[in-house]
Amino acid sequence: MARLNDNYLKLKAGYLFPEIGRRVKAFTDANPEAKVIKLGIGDVTQPLAPAIIDAFHKAVDDLTQGDSFMGYGPEQGYEFLIDTLIEKAYKPLGVSLKTSEIFISDGSKCDCANILDIFALDNKVAICDPVYPVYNDTNVMVGRTGEANEKGYYDGLVYLPCTEENGFTPAIPTEKVDIVYLCYPNNPTGTVATKEALKQWVDYALANEAVLFYDAAYEAFITEPGIPRSIYEIEGAEKCAIEFRSFSKTAGFTGVRCALTVVPEALMARTEGGELTSLNKLWNRRQSTKFNGVSYPVQKAAAAVYSDEGWAQIQETIDYYMENARLIREGLQAAGLTVYGGINAPYIWLKTPGGMSSWDFFDKLLSECHVVGTPGSGFGPSGEGFYRLSAFGDRENVIEAVKRIKENLA
Ligand code: MLT
Repeated sequence: MARLNDNYLKLKAGYLFPEIGRRVKAFTDANPEAKVIKLGIGDVTQPLAPAIIDAFHKAVDDLTQGDSFMGYGPEQGYEFLIDTLIEKAYKPLGVSLKTSEIFISDGSKCDCANILDIFALDNKVAICDPVYPVYNDTNVMVGRTGEANEKGYYDGLVYLPCTEENGFTPAIPTEKVDIVYLCYPNNPTGTVATKEALKQWVDYALANEAVLFYDAAYEAFITEPGIPRSIYEIEGAEKCAIEFRSFSKTAGFTGVRCALTVVPEALMARTEGGELTSLNKLWNRRQSTKFNGVSYPVQKAAAAVYSDEGWAQIQETIDYYMENARLIREGLQAAGLTVYGGINAPYIWLKTPGGMSSWDFFDKLLSECHVVGTPGSGFGPSGEGFYRLSAFGDRENVIEAVKRIKENLA
């Protein structure tokens, strides 16, 4: 009989967001009249910008004609998109990248999971706590861990607590680790890292021959000046960091699917025998073997994000979401809650009132306010006692949700 991958059995029953969906469905089935407002999963609600839609349509039309028809594209992505990203997304930050260093994909979630393919199992991996659950769970799936203990920490991973006391900023590990996941602006806490803080991570990585997995999926939501949008703004990061970026939240592509991963050519890791080897080559080999690229119309739509029109249009949508974030943050503060995030990130991380557990607060808001957020403990043990609200809702729903929560807590 075929053997399964036992590592999957070490995981908690369900991935966080489907579990929330299950609880919400049970509630709505029992209360069909309730108008439930969902601010749980960070899924966008506003339509694609007109310039993006135009490019998308034109690219679909290209496929209808023999001379403009496109079959398989390059596994790494079309140069028209990669070169646009080099010019428009990275050059303005003072970062110069080569075409061969950017890989287009269908999502950062997949990339930050798949990247583990090119790293040996005996690497010591550090993740923040709380954290985007994909980093934790994919390390369990590949077999890098033992079982979870009663607190929910998996044996074999190094957890970096991000708490109210340390301003949700993880301390540099005191032990030597080989891979560190960082996410800024942070999901779920909404905090950002300064240049100085990131420099400490880069210095640590260079000194320890570690690799940083830098998830910058929310960089477009930074509103304050001086906060780095890319790890490569830090000197030396090209020798120690892989960066993940996404069109999902930046341009409303959660259903369209497009992302990019940067693996600089200067980034090396050692073979078992100690020889320095290019991770870019390995990732290229992995992608060419296991992935056939993102569809041509989607990449055309993604490139249109960086047209003058497209850029101006997506900024309006980003401003719309960040105004939602302000309304949530200020509304909940006025209700007496302690609230973090929501200034440079589309997530509001709030402290549950009266020391209530995250899931109890989730159940309370669902049953009494018909509002859905994400329990902080779902992101890791240090998220207990916190609750995340997403700013990606419709304005009307956001205003109504804040009103209901305020009335409930009054
Ligand atoms: C979230 O809500 O944390 C995100 O939407 C999840 C994701 O991007 O996969």
